[in-house]
Amino acid sequence: MCGVVGYVGKNLSRSYVMQGLARLEYRGYDSAGFACLDEKTEKLGCIRAEGQLVNLVKALEGQPLDGSVGIGHTRWSTHGVVAERNAHPHVDCLKKISVVHNGIIENYQLLKEQLSKENHLFRSETDTEVIAHLIEKAISQQGLLQAMLTIVKQLQGAYAFGCIGEPFKDTVVAVRKGSPLCIGIGDKEMFVASDVLAFAGLTDQVIYLPDETIALVHAGFLELYDFEGKQLFLVPQRVAVSWANDGKNGYEHFMLKEIFEQKTGIQATVSWLRELENGPWEHLGMTETQAQELESLTLVGCGTSWHAARIGQFFFESIAKVRTSVVLASEFRYMPFLPTGHSLYMALSQSGETADTLECLRMVKGHGCPTAVLTNVASSSMVRESDGYLLTKAGQEISVASTKAFSTQLAGLYWLAHELAYQKGLIDRQAVEQAYDQLLVAAEILEDSITRYREIITQRYAPYYAQFDKAIFLGRSISYPFCLEAALKLKEISYIFAQSYPAGELKHGPIALIAPDTPLFLFSTLEPVIYQKILSNAQEIKARHGHLVVFAFEGQDELCQLADLAFTVKPVAPLLAPLAMTGLMQFFVYAIADALGRPIDKPRHLAKSVTVE
Ligand code: F6R
Repeated sequence: MCGVVGYVGKNLSRSYVMQGLARLEYRGYDSAGFACLDEKTEKLGCIRAEGQLVNLVKALEGQPLDGSVGIGHTRWSTHGVVAERNAHPHVDCLKKISVVHNGIIENYQLLKEQLSKENHLFRSETDTEVIAHLIEKAISQQGLLQAMLTIVKQLQGAYAFGCIGEPFKDTVVAVRKGSPLCIGIGDKEMFVASDVLAFAGLTDQVIYLPDETIALVHAGFLELYDFEGKQLFLVPQRVAVSWANDGKNGYEHFMLKEIFEQKTGIQATVSWLRELENGPWEHLGMTETQAQELESLTLVGCGTSWHAARIGQFFFESIAKVRTSVVLASEFRYMPFLPTGHSLYMALSQSGETADTLECLRMVKGHGCPTAVLTNVASSSMVRESDGYLLTKAGQEISVASTKAFSTQLAGLYWLAHELAYQKGLIDRQAVEQAYDQLLVAAEILEDSITRYREIITQRYAPYYAQFDKAIFLGRSISYPFCLEAALKLKEISYIFAQSYPAGELKHGPIALIAPDTPLFLFSTLEPVIYQKILSNAQEIKARHGHLVVFAFEGQDELCQLADLAFTVKPVAPLLAPLAMTGLMQFFVYAIADALGRPIDKPRHLAKSVTVE
C-alpha cells in the first residue's frame, strides 16, 4: 500500500508534499516522512516520524528543511515493524539518495545479502532500502537513466517508487511496475503521486505512467522510458478530480458521517445509472445483444466489496436468471482459470485500486475475456484497465471501514440485475422503474432505522455489548453474506473477535460455542421459507441458553419474542432486506467501537486502499 508523493518545480516542495500526504493518508498511516534537497545547504535532508501524519507535521515544526525537489511517504507496513527506522524515505550509505516506495520487492533478501557483502550499510528492516543502495551503486558507475535501467532489471515484485538525490539535483525519478503512479504537469512544476487526489486542484493535466516505465521528472519537462530504455512520448490527459473533503461536518467520526450519507449516495447512484445516455451496456463495454446472450457472470472483489458481490449474486440469479459466481480476488488469481463463452467478469471495488482485484482483471483480460468494474472512483486504475465500468456515486469515502460504498454497490447491482432481466425479456420496463422506487424506499428505511434506535443504542446497548470480547454472527440465504459484512465491521473497528456462520450450519459443530460470554447476532430475511428456518435456528440457540440478538423485520414477532434483544426494521422488497438493515447494523457496530474508545476512522494495522497483494 503506502502513499508516494513527489514535487519538483519553481516553488518549495514541502507544503505540496505534505498536502499530498494528507490526502493519501488513506493508503497507510503507520508512519510518514519527507525528504528534500535543501535549498540552502544543497544537501539531502530527511525527517520521519512513527504514527499518523500529524506526528510528522509536529516533527517538522521549527525545522527549516525545504527545497524545490522533494518526496514524501505515508506507510502501511509490509516489511519491518512500525518504527521510525522503517519509515520512508530510506537513504543510501552516504545519505545522498532517498527513496519512497509502494509495493513489495520480492527478492530484497537476496539483494540485501549481496549489497551487505559489498559493505553497504543497512539501517532498516524494509525491502525498500535495497533500492536506495542499488541506485547508489549503479549511479557511481553510469548516468542516471542507465543506472535506473540497471536496477529495474534486478528488482522483482510490484513497485512504484520515487527517488531524489544529490547526484541528480533537479530531478525526481519515478518508476512504476505493477503499482500505480501518476504525474501531474503544472506550469514549470511537476507532481508525482500514487493517486491524482494528491495534486487535485493544482493541475488537471495527468500522465498515468504505463506499466514498466521510468520517468525522469524535471520542473519544466518530463522524460519517459520503458524498461528497455526506449523513449516514450505520451500526451497528458485531462483528469477532473477535486478534493472534496469537507471535514466531518459536525459528526464525531467520518464513519458516522458516511453512515448518514448512504441515503443520498444510493439516490445519486441509481439516478446516475438510470440516466446513462445509451444505457448500461455500452458503458460496460458490451452490446445489448451480448447482454441478452449473457449466460454467466463472475463477480470479483475483496472484503466488503466481496460481501456486496455475494449479496449481488442473489440479485442476478433471482431477477435475471443468470448463473453468477462470486470469488475472492486473492484466491481467484491463483485458481485454475476456465473461461466460458457468453460471460462477463466484473470487479467490485470502492477504490478501484485494490491490488488483488486489479490483478484479477488483468489476468481475465489477458485471456481475452470481457471485463468490467463497479467502482466509486472514476479516475481509478480499474476504470482505465477494464473494458467497461459503472460508478457508484457514494462520494469520497474517508473512513477506513467501508459503509456507503457497500450500500451503493448493493443499489448498483440490484438495478443492473433488473436491466439485465429486461434485456433478456424477463421483465418489462415498468418493473425496472419499480426497482428504482424499491431502492429509494430501502434507502429511506436504512436511515430511519438508525434515527429510531440511535439514542438507546448509544446509551444502553453499545456500552453493554462492548463488554464482550467475542461474538457469533449468523445469517441464512441472503442474510448470510450480510452477517459476514457485519462481523467484518465489528472486527475491524472494535477489535472484538467475531465469527460468522450460515445459521443452518450451527448444529454441525459451532453450536458447541454457545456460552453466556458469547452473544449471537442473528439476521433475519423477508423470504417466508427462510424465515421459518431462521426461527428454528433461534429456538436451537435459546434451548441452549444462548444470548440472542436479532435484527428482524416488523411483523416477525415470533422471532423477536425469542430474542434477548430485538431490533426491527420496516419491510422492503425481499431482496433488499440487507440494504434496509445496513444502516442499523453499521451504527450498532460503530457505537460499540465508540464505547470502547477505538480510533474508528483509522483502526490499527489497516489502510483504506490495499495496493499490495
Ligand atoms: C472493510 C473494507 C475492506 C475493503 C477491501 C476492498 O470495511 O473497507 O474490506 O472493502 O479492502 O477494497 P475496495 O473495495 O477498495 O477494493
